[in-house]
Amino acid sequence: MANRGGFSSRLGFIAAAAGSAVGLGNIWGFPYEVGQGGGAAFVVMYLIFCFILCYPVMVTEIAIGRKTEKNPVGAFNALGFKKWSFVGKLGILSGFLILSFYNVIAGWAFGYIFEMASGNFGIAEQFGEFVKDIFKVGAYGLLFMATTAYVVSKGVSGGIEKAAKFLMPTLIVMILALVVYSLTLPNAVEGLKFYLIPDFSEINAEVVTNALGQAFFSLSLGMGALITYGSYVNKKENIVSAAAFITLADVGIAVIAGMMIFPLIGFMSGGTMEGVGSGPALIFVTLPQIFGTIGGTLGAIAGTVFFVLLCFAALTSTVSLLEVPVAYVVDEKKVKRKRAVWLVAGLIYLIGIPSLLGNGYSDFFSNFITYPGAESATDFLSFIANVANDSFLPLGGCLIVFFAAHVWKKHNLDEELANGSPNYKGSFVQKYLHFAISYLAPTILAFIFIITV
Ligand code: PHE
Repeated sequence: MANRGGFSSRLGFIAAAAGSAVGLGNIWGFPYEVGQGGGAAFVVMYLIFCFILCYPVMVTEIAIGRKTEKNPVGAFNALGFKKWSFVGKLGILSGFLILSFYNVIAGWAFGYIFEMASGNFGIAEQFGEFVKDIFKVGAYGLLFMATTAYVVSKGVSGGIEKAAKFLMPTLIVMILALVVYSLTLPNAVEGLKFYLIPDFSEINAEVVTNALGQAFFSLSLGMGALITYGSYVNKKENIVSAAAFITLADVGIAVIAGMMIFPLIGFMSGGTMEGVGSGPALIFVTLPQIFGTIGGTLGAIAGTVFFVLLCFAALTSTVSLLEVPVAYVVDEKKVKRKRAVWLVAGLIYLIGIPSLLGNGYSDFFSNFITYPGAESATDFLSFIANVANDSFLPLGGCLIVFFAAHVWKKHNLDEELANGSPNYKGSFVQKYLHFAISYLAPTILAFIFIITV
């Protein structure tokens, strides 16, 4: 373990894993998915998936990582099941795809720091122009990727661990303050109704798969990110309770991000909730407006601080996304860490270029695919996000737990979990975990299969 580097403390692992989970998925992805998925009904589905399915997947991923001290591909080999390493490879592919588009969004958030600092609240109306300026946003993205690569090249425990412990709580406080502020605005209550009162007639197969994908994406599951982080975890760590904390923290932050955004949309739309389904642009259009209503220097400061914190949250996630393929290349291909980091980061940046171009600059990538029955075409970024988040992650996650339950076997998983969790054996959590990984996950897997073919 020593030569791979590990987390310096118990809190270090929790901070890093929570840092991986909390990111753009909570503050950018969650509100826009809720907006497109019809509101509260989506939220209910999302919460159910997080707790009944994703929590068991998280525990399993961390346990496999700690047991094997390997990257997702090496982990299956180390347990003696080489045939299953394809699941790890699927995870590495997911990591590539996710980071390629995620970094584009992170680049926008990074650019917004400067827009807010200069008091340009009008960026809300100019958003379409902003994302079309591909040299500018491309450069922001490049800087973001380079920062990610720099952090990863330094190893997992280090600056990031320390910064996460301080900046994450700050972000939570800031969001809570904005929740309070947005609730005081006229028509806020229309937003709350949309967000909190479910209309179950909104639920269809697409909403269910999107909620499932959002749950996996937001909790960083299904691609081995937590196998990789788990590989740096101390044997004394209580995985069962750490995973519970990480799940609660991540879900909690997504839920309060919604409490901040939807009242704002209620206010901005004069209560009609128009624009709530606008997709990936949602927070980039609503948030500047809100800082604009605060106005002046205070609005500019609040906006700047907010986007700095958001970028930091995104950074702790991009670091975990990059760490997965890097750990693979370092462990399995015996490439030096520094070299691996810059090679992989460069490659992923290039793969992200179509996602960068598809927001109005290039017609081809902006209208990349038209799904059967859809009214309009889908851009490249959203297409990749759909494939990776809504298909690959749930598929990968369900395969990982299926493997643990039926191939590696539950008693081996239990042995690993009992390290650091003295009360685990015989507990309700153990019984539920067994049920979820043996029966629930395969059922959901079958369901995904049926509705995607
Ligand atoms: N969970 C991160 C977020 O919500 C994204 C992520 C997905 C990170 C998968 C790692 C692995 O922003």
